[in-house]
Amino acid sequence: MPNDPSGWGRGLRRLHWWTAGLVFVTFPLGWLMVAVPLRELLLKFLLYQLHKTIGLIVFGLALYRLGIRARVTRPDWDPHLPEWQRRAASSMHAMLYALLIAVPVLGYLSAALAPARVPTLFLGLIPIPHLLSPDARWFAVIRPVHRWGAVLLMGAAAAHAGAALEHHWRGRSVLRRMWGSEAESPVRPPSTRR
Ligand code: HEM
Ligand code: HEM
Repeated sequence: MPNDPSGWGRGLRRLHWWTAGLVFVTFPLGWLMVAVPLRELLLKFLLYQLHKTIGLIVFGLALYRLGIRARVTRPDWDPHLPEWQRRAASSMHAMLYALLIAVPVLGYLSAALAPARVPTLFLGLIPIPHLLSPDARWFAVIRPVHRWGAVLLMGAAAAHAGAALEHHWRGRSVLRRMWGSEAESPVRPPSTRR
């Protein structure tokens, strides 16, 4: 799914918007499932499984997308973007990718270390083995790191979306090229990395 110099390829655009949508669902789900009282045990259990399933899908999509990005160039930068903004955007994108990997890994570690021993069932059916044993002390360390990593991911995504919208309102093509309203990208053989 190569990109064209003038726009993101269709596959990478879909991956971008699916990932964004799923992250925006996973985050509130995390707070909700923790807040549901223990007397609503079945609901709590189902919300945990949904949260973990979507979080694992986000992780898989991020790995897949990074695999593609390792092989294809990004589109050319909008010519009106000054050099410092290109550098800032690149750093933000790298941070978003890092968080898309780190937050689900920390979530998995929270699930494995939790003394409550709740299994992780992908799609509510497929057991994902916990490679670490429950440990209350490590859980107390990892749980807040997962939580604050998720908060950082949302904050970074909000700043990133704000920047994209700001460019859009100034008439730049940045958002249109990710949204796909520019001309469909023709196929181009993978070339050297950016
Ligand atoms: C992008 C992906 C993810 C986001 C944005 C996210 C976000 C959150 C948030 C906001 C909370 C509530 C924080 C708290 O009250 O402590 C939470 C809790 C939790 N998450 Fe995630 N999460 C993600 C992925 C995952 C994954 C993949 C797993 C496991 C496979 C997971 C397992 C957990 C567990 C077990 C808790 C509850 C810890 C506890 O019982 O207090 N998360 N997550
Ligand atoms: C959780 C939410 C989001 C995440 C994790 C995320 C992540 C990313 C990443 C990693 C890239 C870089 C792509 C690459 O170099 O391969 C990117 C590009 C982009 N994102 Fe997002 N994004 C999110 C939400 C949004 C939202 C809500 C908007 C718009 C309102 C947006 C607009 C864009 C645009 C326009 C680009 C292309 C930038 C360019 O061409 O330099 N993103 N996003």
